[in-house]
Amino acid sequence: MKKEFIIAGNWKMNKTVEESIDFIKELDDKIEANEGVRILIFPPFTSIYSISNLSDKIKIGSQNIFYEDRGAYTGEISPLMLKNLVDYVLIGHSERREIFKELDSDLNKKIKTALRHKLNPVLCIGETLEQRERGETLKRIKKQIDEDLKGLKAQEIKSIIFAYEPIWAIGTGETASPAQAQEVHGFIRKLLEEKVENPEDIFILYGGSVKPENSFDLLSQKDINGALIGGASLKVDLFSAIIETSCKIAK
Ligand code: PGA
Repeated sequence: MKKEFIIAGNWKMNKTVEESIDFIKELDDKIEANEGVRILIFPPFTSIYSISNLSDKIKIGSQNIFYEDRGAYTGEISPLMLKNLVDYVLIGHSERREIFKELDSDLNKKIKTALRHKLNPVLCIGETLEQRERGETLKRIKKQIDEDLKGLKAQEIKSIIFAYEPIWAIGTGETASPAQAQEVHGFIRKLLEEKVENPEDIFILYGGSVKPENSFDLLSQKDINGALIGGASLKVDLFSAIIETSCKIAK
């Protein structure tokens, strides 16, 4: 069966405006064909404007969003400011959850706000090492999905892209084995089956130390529809190698 992929790069708090422009130009030059593969980059806010129209092949997303449209919220970013600049919004990355103490109830509001403004949410979920060791991975995933999607209609859930990111594998060099990742992806798809028709159409990305070396095995898993990549998305060579791998599998 033909597979479609989303290969997304999350630059986190890296790259100046100049570095971002150079990267997008270089990557655009390097990608010859990307049929069946959607390429997304989540740059820092300061770079969004300069790169949002640089390449037809590369879509741009925001790393965060606030759930109010305007007002006295120092340091936050409104969906109105992102409109026409980005098509995607990262919501609930584990660094937002852990360092900035974002709660599932906040994320639920953020998802609703993004959808109201026609931005596609990319919702990150995942367990900590302690939760995995206690055998609570699936319980944790179910709790996040239930709380983050509370009150959403089936049609709205269908426009969400999910990213399973085991926290212990983010930026650590440790990757979930393809079998470990597939187990959780299959479980997420099963949970979605209870909420929407045709859950097989929903993109579920894997994130956590994805590199050119492990991308083929991960992306070949039945329920893995792409990758959310941190470290390896900062280098054109590494990121484009993962795109190439996904293009080969997509064929
Ligand atoms: P990593 O980050 O690829 O550096 O592990 C992934 C992420 O945080 O999305």
